[in-house]
Amino acid sequence: MYLYNLRLYDFRNFLELDLEFKNGINIFYGDNAQGKTNLLEAIYFITELRATRAFREQEVIRYDQPLAFLKGLFSTKAGDIDRQVTIYRNQKKEVKEGENKKSRWSELDPSISAVYFSPEDIDLVKGEPSLRRRFIDNLIYRIRPSFYKYLQGYQRVLTQRNTLLKTIKIKPGMTKTLDPWDEQLSELGSQLINERLKMLQRISSLSQDYFKTFTHKRNDLRISYRSEIDFSNPELIKADYKNKLILNREKDINRSFTSVGPHRDDIDFFIDGKNIKHYASQGQQRLTVLCLMFAQRNLLYTEKGEYPILLLDDVMSELDIHRRQLILGQENHQVFITTTDLKFIPEEILEKSFLYPIKAGTLG
Ligand SMILES: Nc1ncnc2c1ncn2[C@@H]1O[C@H](COP(=O)(O)OP(=O)(O)O)[C@@H](O)[C@H]1O
Ligand SMILES: [Mg+2]
Repeated sequence: MYLYNLRLYDFRNFLELDLEFKNGINIFYGDNAQGKTNLLEAIYFITELRATRAFREQEVIRYDQPLAFLKGLFSTKAGDIDRQVTIYRNQKKEVKEGENKKSRWSELDPSISAVYFSPEDIDLVKGEPSLRRRFIDNLIYRIRPSFYKYLQGYQRVLTQRNTLLKTIKIKPGMTKTLDPWDEQLSELGSQLINERLKMLQRISSLSQDYFKTFTHKRNDLRISYRSEIDFSNPELIKADYKNKLILNREKDINRSFTSVGPHRDDIDFFIDGKNIKHYASQGQQRLTVLCLMFAQRNLLYTEKGEYPILLLDDVMSELDIHRRQLILGQENHQVFITTTDLKFIPEEILEKSFLYPIKAGTLG
């Protein structure tokens, strides 16, 4: 699958742009603040239907304009797809494929996808646990959209249990009413943990392979799930979760907050046995995230039979020449990369790439 045409109207600093792309390596180059990252974001938006970095989706609309519009033409094994997205300031975005409005993920063509990496994504291993939970949960429902219902269900029951905890703090006589909520929460929560474990196993073995390649087998990456719940036996997760809910009841009532569960779990990364949050260099942390993204792309390919578009923002200058070659040398699917200077791109890669100079929101 690849994107062969992209049109933008009032997206970030672009007024209007019409670009043709090839299946291969496409390079956006130019000085800082010209729109290179914005263009990657536009590609990510038309494929994944969300912004890469905006806090609110509306931030992608050009200043003082009412809406942003994107149109992408994709070539897939099953034929061409024409997708359009309109992002409004004051109403929900509108997505169309051909003439048909699409309101759910499950209605969209599943072969279109993208994976994005920028050096800021180092937060995935350094930042808050919620970022790692979201990463793994997103990946699960990206492959199995029906998983979203479990996530929502768990979140709903959790919110209700927390509200009830608040009530019980005032009326301790009601403690027994927690029973059915603990039952539901442990049921949904154990399914959530099981799905995460399965996904983590797949993504971690792929990431390990990439990490080995990038470090010439000198270093070893391990990824593991962390929870207060004993997850060593999938059959017993629910029972242990329920147990812990009951054990922690008093504390939970005091805090009006559920202290144990998948909403508190985390993912740990180890290089040569050492937790990378505390012991790895920035370069190693970044490489770990890059490997995770490659693993994600590989996994999506296995599931969909189509390679996701790879978007690499400002990555080349951060890597040594060897890794630049490793990343792009074997590449024969669609990639978009940005760089301030073409000197960061190895010669033999430049020769087979398509170049786009970007200047002040135009192709210049
Ligand atoms: N919603 C927006 N409307 C207009 N301009 C924007 C918007 N969001 C960002 N910009 C502008 O885009 C420019 C940054 O573009 P960016 O793609 O990050 O540059 P770079 O080429 O360095 O990657 C800045 O000048 C910024 O002011
Ligand atoms: Mg940039």
